[in-house]
Amino acid sequence: MKVSIIGGGGRVGSCAASALQFGGIVNEIALVDVNLDVAEGEALDLLHGASLTSDQKIYAAGPETSADADIVCITAGLRRKPDESRLDLINRNVKLFRNILADLKQAGYRKDAIVFVVSNPVDVLTYLAMEELDLPPQQVIGLGTVLDTTRLRSMLAQRLDVPPSQTQVTIFGEHGDSMVPIWSHAQIAGLPLEKYPGVTPQLIAEIEKKTRGSGAEVIKKKGGAGYAVGVSIADVIHTIALDQHRILPVSSLQNGAYGIQGVCLSVPTIVGRGGAKQHIEVELWPKELTGLQRSGSVLRETIGKVLGG
Ligand code: 2OP
Repeated sequence: MKVSIIGGGGRVGSCAASALQFGGIVNEIALVDVNLDVAEGEALDLLHGASLTSDQKIYAAGPETSADADIVCITAGLRRKPDESRLDLINRNVKLFRNILADLKQAGYRKDAIVFVVSNPVDVLTYLAMEELDLPPQQVIGLGTVLDTTRLRSMLAQRLDVPPSQTQVTIFGEHGDSMVPIWSHAQIAGLPLEKYPGVTPQLIAEIEKKTRGSGAEVIKKKGGAGYAVGVSIADVIHTIALDQHRILPVSSLQNGAYGIQGVCLSVPTIVGRGGAKQHIEVELWPKELTGLQRSGSVLRETIGKVLGG
């Protein structure tokens, strides 16, 4: 399986490539970047460790390399300023993203390719890619709240001193200010979170607040996310590559789940080689459902304003 990473010379793209190298599941990783020199440097640096990681083809290339990629991952984009919301970023990124889509259309892409958007604001840009590319909607997905979900799980686990791998809670909605943590289904090792020793409404509120601010906090401290977004990207790509049909909160075009239509956002989604195969509509607390529908309205309004859709 070949993956091309458009933005592969950047922090997010190169961390995704490194996570894919450690995963050893895909066998070809092509790094595409406007700064070819940097992409070549990242490819070289990854290759230097190949004898200790995986037997893969890793190289830098121009946009044409996406023509035969099974998965085209787009991480390129301008980063938010610490006090800037993701949606504020949109005007700066839509122009750049349209150019990337134009290059991709120029290069061509497989009719069974999965286009996987990471660039922010990811839900709006996923919708734009879905509109512009000649692919079935389910083959155009976004990272959505996969990163937020792993952040929430990891920080809740650290706070409760339990294994992150046994900390189950997920986030739906927008990868942004209107994201919705789904506490109604949260568990620790299969046990209901609200009954777990040490869990209080205050603790939950504290972890939720920290999760919402995580993106901005990482930007402020180190300039932007890298490792966690890299492994989040790799987790989705591996699920596609292995056709695992795992349920992930990727962003995809909504067609009725929770009464939401015509926007891309994250709900529980069965993910396999064909992309977003099916949305799973689990029962939510009323306030969670309201929050999710608000996410849809926020994104619908932005799409209307910025994309004229
Ligand atoms: C973040 O939240 C990159 O949007 C991503 O850090």
